[in-house]
Amino acid sequence: LNLLHSAVCLQFSSLLLFCFGLCSSWWGGVQMGPPDPILGVTEAFKRDTNPKKMNLGVGAYRDDQGKPFVLSCVRKAEALIASKQLDKEYLPIGGLGEFTKACAQLALGNDSEVLKSSRNITVQTISGTGSLRIGANFLSRFHGGPRDVYLPKPSWGNHTPIFRDAGMQLKAYRYYDPSTCGFDFKGALEDISKIPEQSVILLHACAHNPTGVDPRPEQWKEIADIVKKRNLLVFFDMAYQGFASGDIDRDAWAVRYFIEQGHNIVLSQSFAKNMGLYGERVGGFTVVCKDAEEAKRVESQLKILIRPIYSNPPMNGARIASTILSTPDLRSLWLEEVHGMANRIIKMREQLAAGLKKNGSSHNWQHVIDQIGMFCFTGLKPEQVERIIKEYSVYMTKDGRISMAGVSSGNVGYLAEAIHAVTK
Ligand code: LMR
Repeated sequence: LNLLHSAVCLQFSSLLLFCFGLCSSWWGGVQMGPPDPILGVTEAFKRDTNPKKMNLGVGAYRDDQGKPFVLSCVRKAEALIASKQLDKEYLPIGGLGEFTKACAQLALGNDSEVLKSSRNITVQTISGTGSLRIGANFLSRFHGGPRDVYLPKPSWGNHTPIFRDAGMQLKAYRYYDPSTCGFDFKGALEDISKIPEQSVILLHACAHNPTGVDPRPEQWKEIADIVKKRNLLVFFDMAYQGFASGDIDRDAWAVRYFIEQGHNIVLSQSFAKNMGLYGERVGGFTVVCKDAEEAKRVESQLKILIRPIYSNPPMNGARIASTILSTPDLRSLWLEEVHGMANRIIKMREQLAAGLKKNGSSHNWQHVIDQIGMFCFTGLKPEQVERIIKEYSVYMTKDGRISMAGVSSGNVGYLAEAIHAVTK
């Protein structure tokens, strides 16, 4: 009887423990969050079984067979690095020295006065997102002006959470004109001229994401003037150097022009797109300072900021990028390959516009050709986006942005047919 009694007690206490365990979850208050507006598109695409499906969501380059593309210069640099049997020691907090030097040189140009007078500090970052976040954290801690960051309307979807999570406040200036599918120059100037002094303005250096609409050089000049009059701190995001025109110097023109005009900018760079180093997470964050002494002080604080987040950055991608940038043969091969990627995208833009015409579309699709870089802001409305996904398995972000890098000779016809079907 005693034995039976103990067995019943044991069962009862296990049941209690089980119930208690269930009721006392630590995370009961955690709500289900929405999927990421860009990366969530890939998740939905992967679940689709339609053999004709297309993923035009995330901006990642594909070759004309629709396959992820590893640049030959990257393969060669990897072989060179492997042959050196290098160690795997920690990198310094600010990253690989050869890389940060080459990274700043690529953005600012070989003859840059800033580099000659050592008044920049460049740290290696976890690609463009990591760079923006380190920049946002730095502003949040040290920028003496208003905590407002002015983004173009629209801007890359991740800009808002990056700056918001770093404790900055988000504001916007007009940028894109839906009636022309082009740049709203007048609206941008009007809005920028009203931004409170010393606020932060974010500018996309080239190949604006998501619209593919860039100011022309003469327009950049006027923007630089107004920004100077308002005494704004310029944060350049350059995630696509080389991808807009195929020419790395031409794409860095605005950044270099602003510096020449006396703007002490901060700058984020990414090597995800222009070297196809997406998963390697290679980027840089630069602060252009008043002089070398100020740059040293800023460097010390960037290190203090980075150390408790990820201690020091990973080395593999930085080794690849710096090997390419500093080995003349690999550098020329890289420039050719960047040019090749940019050109393939330009060709796809032309074929898509021609395909829409061939399908009998009566709309003006000139913006498909005129926009620049990896993305085309089609002008498709949310309900048309919903239809093209549901009926044609053509995946894109809700704002109607398509990654032209996912379009190939093999599927451009199908895409034209699908866009025409939902827009006629
Ligand atoms: C994009 O906009 O698709 C890319 O910048 C990738 C990303 O991380 O969002």
